[in-house]
Amino acid sequence: MTERCDLLITNVHAATMDPSLPGAYGAIEDAAVAVTGNRIVWIGPRRELPETAADQIVDGEGQWLTPGLIDCHTHLVYGGHRAGEFARRLGGESYEDLARAGGGILSTVRSTRAASAADLYRSAEPRLKALIREGVTTVEIKSGYGLDLDTELKQLRVARRLAQHHPVNVTTTCLAAHALPPEYDGRADDYIALVCDEILPAVAKEQLADAVDMFCENIAFSVEQCQRVIDAAHRLDLPVKVHAEQLASTGATRMAARASALSVDHIEYITDEDVAAMAESGTAAVLLPGAFYTLKETRVPPVDKLRAAGVPMAISTDLNPGTCPIASLRLMMNMSCNLFGLTPAEALAGVTRAAARALGICCSRGVLRAGLRADMVLWPMESPDQLAYELGALQPADVFFGGRHVTA
Ligand code: NIG
Ligand code: FE
Repeated sequence: MTERCDLLITNVHAATMDPSLPGAYGAIEDAAVAVTGNRIVWIGPRRELPETAADQIVDGEGQWLTPGLIDCHTHLVYGGHRAGEFARRLGGESYEDLARAGGGILSTVRSTRAASAADLYRSAEPRLKALIREGVTTVEIKSGYGLDLDTELKQLRVARRLAQHHPVNVTTTCLAAHALPPEYDGRADDYIALVCDEILPAVAKEQLADAVDMFCENIAFSVEQCQRVIDAAHRLDLPVKVHAEQLASTGATRMAARASALSVDHIEYITDEDVAAMAESGTAAVLLPGAFYTLKETRVPPVDKLRAAGVPMAISTDLNPGTCPIASLRLMMNMSCNLFGLTPAEALAGVTRAAARALGICCSRGVLRAGLRADMVLWPMESPDQLAYELGALQPADVFFGGRHVTA
């Protein structure tokens, strides 16, 4: 009997990233992929394809097909910029010094509060488009530059609206516990109460966030304060993520693991016990080499130990105005190899399968497999190792978003 599908891609090699298939890329050479609606309905070697009639047939011309890329940690909706601070850091001032002097995150808070929703949309759009042009089909966007109810809601609504007008899935995360706003100076516990009792419930009521994040660090919030945010998130049935141990060892990762957090992000300063706790809880590591590079950090996350413990390692841009004003996930793949020692295959897993884990969406995205969303990128390359290696000239030849062909 002849099967029917909407779209059939043949004459491609597929880097499925499916861990149940052999090889680091779960590669299927000379593959075929059938799509109906927004789902993959069949994928395998072309010679095994059942007789299939398709409304549209795409000849992949021997190129490589990968899952759509996933940028699982961004702060891309914000007002203003911090180029002045960049210059001051080059002159020798540290990120922590600038933050303690009321700059850093708080400088972006001032600009974000002053911006209208339309301004925020207009300034975020080119950042999102830069990611989309590189083959990103899912992006997480955090709030955290409002630090008051209205501005946090404004940022999250803009993030949701961006998704309505671009071929990209957007997941949103409320990061109200990002920094202490100036009006709460000296009253961090009162601000945490505002986050837990007002901001998170309002965000949840409007269904504006898929997760809750927090910055657990000496220049931000303590483990105890973050635990209160986690408890509030769980009362609202929202999963959590934690900016953890970027600048010092704090115990944030063990707290996050106890809470079955989706991910801990940065983690340059985690210990062996932290790695064991992550492996036990299934919490993903999100490595942010762009922030490491921008802050000229020297302590690298313990990649060998994470690998040995089987902790999924996601890679992301952390796209933000302070520590990574770089809208390129492909550059992060390259940096994760050169700076952190990942293999090119781990770098691709980091922006597909592991990134989906870090967002709690691995049942629908991150690998090429029947039943999952047909978010796929066709690349004019001879080997998938080229994705982490070659920047600038190597661009997607084609992008399929939920099975729909979109211009890359
Ligand atoms: O992930 N660590 C905290 N948040 C961001 C930096 C935000 C900023 O400096 O504006 C980060 O690096
Ligand atoms: Fe971040």
